[in-house]
Amino acid sequence: MRLLSLLALGTLMLPLAALAADPDSYAQPDQVRITHLDLDLTIDFPRKQLEGVATLTLDWKNPDAPSLVLDTRDLKIASIEALHGNGKSSPLNYVLSPPDKALGSKLTVTAPNHPQRVRIVYATSPAATGLQWLGPAQTADGKLPFMFSQSESIHARSWVPLQDSPAVRFTYDAHISAPKDIRVLMSAINDARHPLDGNFSFDQPHPIPAYLLAIAAGGIAVKETGPRSAVYAEPSVVDKATHEFEDTEKMLATAEKLYGPYRWGRYDILVLPPSFPYGGMENPDMTFATPTVLVGDKSLVSLVAHELAHSWAGNLVTAASWRDIWLNEGVTTYVQGRITEALYGKALADEEALLSARALQKDIADMPANAQKLAPDPRGVGADDALSDVAYDKGSWFMRTLEQRFGRRAFDAYLKGYFNHFAFQSITTEQMLAYLKPQLIDRYPGKMRWAEVKAWVYGTGIPKDATLPDSPRFDTIDRERKAFLAGTLGADEIEAKGWNTQEWMYFLDRLPDVTPSGKLGELDATWHLTGTPNAEIGMRWYSHAIAGGDTSVWPAAAAHMIRIGRLYLTLPLYKAFARTPQGLAYAERVYAQAKPGYHPLTQQAVEAIFVKARKGSH
Ligand code: BES
Ligand code: ZN
Repeated sequence: MRLLSLLALGTLMLPLAALAADPDSYAQPDQVRITHLDLDLTIDFPRKQLEGVATLTLDWKNPDAPSLVLDTRDLKIASIEALHGNGKSSPLNYVLSPPDKALGSKLTVTAPNHPQRVRIVYATSPAATGLQWLGPAQTADGKLPFMFSQSESIHARSWVPLQDSPAVRFTYDAHISAPKDIRVLMSAINDARHPLDGNFSFDQPHPIPAYLLAIAAGGIAVKETGPRSAVYAEPSVVDKATHEFEDTEKMLATAEKLYGPYRWGRYDILVLPPSFPYGGMENPDMTFATPTVLVGDKSLVSLVAHELAHSWAGNLVTAASWRDIWLNEGVTTYVQGRITEALYGKALADEEALLSARALQKDIADMPANAQKLAPDPRGVGADDALSDVAYDKGSWFMRTLEQRFGRRAFDAYLKGYFNHFAFQSITTEQMLAYLKPQLIDRYPGKMRWAEVKAWVYGTGIPKDATLPDSPRFDTIDRERKAFLAGTLGADEIEAKGWNTQEWMYFLDRLPDVTPSGKLGELDATWHLTGTPNAEIGMRWYSHAIAGGDTSVWPAAAAHMIRIGRLYLTLPLYKAFARTPQGLAYAERVYAQAKPGYHPLTQQAVEAIFVKARKGSH
């Protein structure tokens, strides 16, 4: 690791990926690599488990490798065998190590004879961190059960034994058995007309990293939004979702014009129940999305632009380890802005860039030095800690800075070339920089010094001369907020009638952390924020109202917390409540009610907030 960062700052020699082991995986891809995965699984809703067989095709790299080391978490392994060319099989010995809290259990399969294929019979645990199981009552339509995976960052190992590192890519095919009437979807081409007969087959012919392996099953309807795009959702949600996402084909065409052909065939979207722990997940061919973006006016569809952008930044060119995750999320957030600009105008794209940049400016100084870096020192960065606003918002800010310095023509050509050059590879920050230098920085001398690039990538904070777009509408909001707080402008004089979602977010984001409850009451009386159907606004509003000490909003905040399991929209409310003993006690009661509907990751995160708060109060 140390060697890697020294090289990184120095000569930029290639290939560095070979040197960098992934600290978040037990796998040893320099010894042997999975090239193909064949899954044959049954979905057992009553027992909340997947059971069946994973067959791994292997490419042995080291002729002396004694074993195949895999990542697992909470898997029950029934047997492991080698499959031989002549169709025969023979059992293999294996050791499943005691679980590590962060990494799960290392599975060491003794295989000195280097079989080309290994067959593992196994079942998942009902508590698998990468799966959520919902009973019919926890779905919108209340008729059929539902299950879905969320593999990123390191949860694929909780439902398939594999090399769970983004440095390893493999193709896959799958056969999935399910009860009748259930539709099964995976991160592969899905057929909208597939009969609901309990037998589904999938083929993902492009090599993908484990974190893009995905499955979902439930009472799911489908509607087309274009020749290569459709929306999947529960029947009562599908029309609303189809309307919200009707611009998907236009987004595809925009991205293709900028960065070349979309290589994955179809781009479908699955809208999940509100317990989905993220906003969106870029599963190939089938983005998974939260229903909290279905607000009726398309104001939150940048989420689709974002997940679609991953089809180039992330799914085509992948970060080799979680330390380099800004290569996925930062570049994607930049491309997202370009798609938003092309479809909905520069004013909206600039507002979105400003919202996140200003939030980052506010928060970055309080982060540990290592966390402020795009490419942190890999020691001590866990997979989940690697993911912060820095990856998204400092990363996209760096990309916008490059665009500004070199101009759109040169930068667009560079980025398109970058996606093609590294297509279907997993790369480190240092590989990206080794390409950036000759292809952009040195090619157009005098535009940007290399020391500036290094400051963006390896430095803390945000470079002093970083620029931001202008937004006259945000400037007006800043003035109105200030006047309102100073008492020179009444709540009813704020010209918020025409505000879009982003403008409300900006107004609320920049209210003081603890705003006097009288002021908050005035706002609510005029603008009726309590009970808003827009969860982005609700999350911000309830956080302020709780911090301001207004207990009358507690029931509405609780309803939001019980309904929505998306981490980013729910955790801030638990944190706001946890600041006082009464609030903490209330939040614990809310959680008792919400918990059965929460994803395992949301449960873990809420419980961690409680543990921290209880410690703090001693
Ligand atoms: N790939 C991420 C989601 C993710 C990252 C899941 C890391 C688990 C670990 C996805 O593309 C994403 O960034 N989603 C955002 C949406 C967005 C518009 C920024 C989210 O979920 O909020
Ligand atoms: Zn993303």
